[in-house]
Amino acid sequence: MEFWIVKQDNFYITTPIYYPSGQPHMGHAYSSIIADVFARFKRNDNCKVFFLTGTDEHGLKIQKAAEKNNLDPLIHCNKISKIFKDLTKKLNLSNDDFIRTTEERHHKAVTELWNRLVKSGDIYLSKYKGWYSVSDEAYYNVDEVSEKNGKKFSTFSGSQVEWVEEESFFFKLSAWEKKLLEFYEKNKKFILPTSRRNEVINFVKSGLKDLSVSRTSFTWGIKVPNNSNHVIYVWLDALTNYLSALNFPNISDKLYKNFWPASLHVIGKDILRFHAIYWPAFLLAANIEPPHRVFGHGWILSGDEKMSKSKGNILNPLEIIDKYGIDSLRYYLMKEVSHGSDGSISLKNLELCINSDLANNYGNLCQRVFSFVKNNCNSKVKKNNNTTDSDKKLFDQINQSLKGLRDEMNNQNLNNYIKSVINISFLTNKYINDEEPWKLKKTNNERMNNILYIALEQIAKISILLNPIIPNSTNKVLESLNMTAKSINLAFLDKGNIFDGEIKIKELDILFKKIT
Ligand code: ME8
Ligand code: MG
Repeated sequence: MEFWIVKQDNFYITTPIYYPSGQPHMGHAYSSIIADVFARFKRNDNCKVFFLTGTDEHGLKIQKAAEKNNLDPLIHCNKISKIFKDLTKKLNLSNDDFIRTTEERHHKAVTELWNRLVKSGDIYLSKYKGWYSVSDEAYYNVDEVSEKNGKKFSTFSGSQVEWVEEESFFFKLSAWEKKLLEFYEKNKKFILPTSRRNEVINFVKSGLKDLSVSRTSFTWGIKVPNNSNHVIYVWLDALTNYLSALNFPNISDKLYKNFWPASLHVIGKDILRFHAIYWPAFLLAANIEPPHRVFGHGWILSGDEKMSKSKGNILNPLEIIDKYGIDSLRYYLMKEVSHGSDGSISLKNLELCINSDLANNYGNLCQRVFSFVKNNCNSKVKKNNNTTDSDKKLFDQINQSLKGLRDEMNNQNLNNYIKSVINISFLTNKYINDEEPWKLKKTNNERMNNILYIALEQIAKISILLNPIIPNSTNKVLESLNMTAKSINLAFLDKGNIFDGEIKIKELDILFKKIT
């Protein structure tokens, strides 16, 4: 088998496409913001980025949701998909496209993928007999189902399952077991975090059964080519969205040529099996290069339960944005919820985080330096070459923190990244406390200028580094430093400095109000 070389400077990143079966909630916001942070970071690091999100609109789950609302499925989807699309604006996502699986371009791609799988001999007709969860749109093995109060549930997700017996096309997943294991072995970072990778490998090693990939008992989906009694299994349909958005099957299209294979699928661990097993198997069978990486983050919990539409325990991101602002929400979710494991969120912790990191640390640093420079230096500071030991100490500490930052991001260690950056802000605040520039105005104006120059330079660096996470606030700061959009990039990580001797500033409004 062939293994392809990683393209360095084009970066294709996706979120899951969400079911428009209910209102979007914090879990969806969480995945989307993670993906947005990586997309923005890569753009700032001079990569060409394509960032995709969207909605997954076929299948029995959606058909039932539409019936419940007495709506035609497409009209139902139009309505809810728009709410998801509006949310991308509220979350300040920088997505380049928003795909809906009811679109014609997607229909074409799914049909082509199906035809390729038929041609390669990976699809055959038989009968499915087994457990199915409509809520997860997933088949479960007998040993993955348990009984409670006379009802059957998946032990994997906790969703109710029903017995299904119908004619179905199958994908020869069992035939791909060895090749998948080989693929994971050769691509050690295909699944991150590593704990997830081990789960997947163990599951595949325990043996893969062929997968039912069509249904006959309902109609809301993409029809199997040449057999309109069958609709294509919604997961085969949904996963293909990542190709449709690049205009597959038109493989000479610029988008496809530049951006396939995907660099990173950001997903929750609930849908890891689909992305890390079925998806590469479909692609390998269709002779399409698999994506480079699947990052499966943990769950946001409400109390100790997964926050989900079906459980009804959802925290509304819109209410939080209205009250605290989008940057505060973005920062809190990215810093405090460890991306590998599950994490509880609460308003109390959100407020503590806003106060400690944003208001008292980064916000305060910007405010105090900007207002001092405006009031005492006529909004302009100059560097001179008399550096002191304390300056050198600060540079050393900061350089130490900057060192691994790009790697942290490229390995999706977002929590570590933010901790390092906020530590630079802390060190800079401490430097100002120790150096007391306010005492030097009359006695040593040159030294005062140098301290402020150094502080502003660090503020610019911190702002560029935090820009993917809190774009609105950092853009205000960078704008007040008279930096152009073009200069908001990570070149300084290699070059060292941002300014060349003189910094002029404009007034800066309060960034984060302390919550009392
Ligand atoms: O599964 N914590 O859609 P979905 C963290 N349509 N993330 C959460 C979350 C939580 N409590 N709840 C949801 C589907 N998510 C399919 C995907 S992709 C080709 C098709 C996030 O609406 C997380 O990313 O059920 C999870 O994987 C996704 O939303 C599931 O969204
Ligand atoms: Mg779900």
